[in-house]
Amino acid sequence: MAFTVAIDGPAAAGKGTIARAVADHFGFAYLDTGLLYRAVGQRMLDGEDPVAAAEALRAEDLDHPDLRGAEAAQAASKVAAIPEVRAALLDFQRAFSRRLGGAVLDGRDIGTVICPEAEAKLYVTASDETRAARRHKELVANGREIGFDEVLAELRERDARDSARATAPLKPAEDAVMIDTSDMTIEQAFVAAITAISQRMP
Ligand code: DC
Repeated sequence: MAFTVAIDGPAAAGKGTIARAVADHFGFAYLDTGLLYRAVGQRMLDGEDPVAAAEALRAEDLDHPDLRGAEAAQAASKVAAIPEVRAALLDFQRAFSRRLGGAVLDGRDIGTVICPEAEAKLYVTASDETRAARRHKELVANGREIGFDEVLAELRERDARDSARATAPLKPAEDAVMIDTSDMTIEQAFVAAITAISQRMP
């Protein structure tokens, strides 16, 4: 059986945490589509043409140690506005979404463009301040010296670019279930996601 769960939303809203927990719960495969754009962004930072990099993306590119950093995130957001880059990554994501046994994909355009037919769609969001506070805490815990205001500005810049681009902008699908995690624990957000997805199961 193929069953696709599409999870979209802005940066640091908790999509990845929810997506991973949902995939574990249902025994579905999980794809972090942001990682594909980060890998292309990183290759651009390394001097390559982003379209050529997207067309020739290799599995090992996803293991680059710097992909989780802020520089790769901004580069990802920039290459993600190039239609040819998005086109080059489309088939892989679609094929993944229809693999047997179920799949969870998280990103910005999964419910709108990659998998408009997904059985379940979630749009996970949270206030700017909440998202920035979570990301800031995570960075500080990892030994980074960075101020809250800088993290907030970086998130806002990236969301603005991701929402304003012409091709596949960040926005909720019309039939997405909205989950605002601002005042939720991880456990509560997980329960909300599982409940919404279970209602879409045969
Ligand atoms: O989810 P993330 O923060 O790892 O994503 C990094 C960037 O990649 C994000 O700012 C925009 C882009 N992206 C996208 O355009 N479409 C996706 N499906 C996933 C990510």
